Amino acid sequence: MKIKSAEFVMSNSDVEKCPKSRLPEYAFIGRSNVGKSSLINMLTQRKSLAKTSGRPGKTQLINHFLINKNWHLVDLPGYGYARVSKTAKKVFQKFITQYFGLREQLVTAFVLVDIRHNPQPVDLEFMQWLGENGIPFSIVFTKADKLKPKAIENHVEAYKTILLESWEDMPNYFITSSSNETGKDDLLEYIDELNNN
Ligand code: GTP
Ligand code: MG
Repeated sequence: MKIKSAEFVMSNSDVEKCPKSRLPEYAFIGRSNVGKSSLINMLTQRKSLAKTSGRPGKTQLINHFLINKNWHLVDLPGYGYARVSKTAKKVFQKFITQYFGLREQLVTAFVLVDIRHNPQPVDLEFMQWLGENGIPFSIVFTKADKLKPKAIENHVEAYKTILLESWEDMPNYFITSSSNETGKDDLLEYIDELNNN
């Protein structure tokens, strides 16, 4: 799929105020600093459509972007950032629960995990939660430019082993890098297929 247009629509802390249109929607979620906003910029070929930062906790709101005038990409705040207060964590949990509970437009979520790390409980618990709530998701491994192919393979295997303990199949997954555009075409093709279903 070619990206012909990508526009920022709005930022919200209230799910009820998100766009009312029925356009298909794809949400990017994962730990703080995993590369959600960078991935959105890479996919849309816009350098600073989504705001990125080296400091975790940059994205604080639900951000909608309209792509090719017919689908939405959603940039969500990260979870699992230790230096956030308990209250902030609660607020975050509430609006993420609301987001996934209320957005009927959501076709699938992309759960981003840093390819350099071994499977982390916070990510596995989040995937479990999505599964229990019947929310389809794919895994997106990020920052693949930081590892050699063999190490990438090992990390993916580690995920497969642990996920297959509680899931029948390994969820769909993508290996990406926002620095060198690895995985861009595969991800866009996947979204295109879902849009046309
Ligand atoms: P929050 O909004 O804080 O939750 O973070 P985020 O998940 O949106 O991460 P963001 O895209 O802001 O990126 C965090 C940091 O990782 C930035 O310094 C990026 O430059 C870097 N980064 C993101 N993707 C990649 C990648 O594919 N490769 C490399 N090498 N660095 C990356
Ligand atoms: Mg962000």
